Amino acid sequence: MENESSWVYAIEEKELKENSANMVFQKGLPVLLIKKAGEIYAISNKCAHMACTLAGGTLQDFIIKCPCHDWRYDARTGEFLDAKEIKLPVYEWKSSDGKIFINIQEG
Ligand code: FES
Repeated sequence: MENESSWVYAIEEKELKENSANMVFQKGLPVLLIKKAGEIYAISNKCAHMACTLAGGTLQDFIIKCPCHDWRYDARTGEFLDAKEIKLPVYEWKSSDGKIFINIQEG
């Protein structure tokens, strides 16, 4: 059974900008919400290299590039492109009444 307490409010859906990385902090958890082609992806905002914030990076197609040393991740899966065994946590999300909620338990 789903644990309702792991769902936290993140952002109003209308505030999510298409093609950009939207950073939210909920319960101390840095999450990056990326809206692309009508879909939304939620991944950790913390680079697996030296923990830079990915929100300042560049987004091209589904690839987010860390601003610090250019590590690149697939926003859909959290995978580091150069070594797929390195993965950023990804999170489930849902929309309700125009609000986005994130399941802060890693998905
Ligand atoms: S901290 Fe992200 S590439 Fe180094």
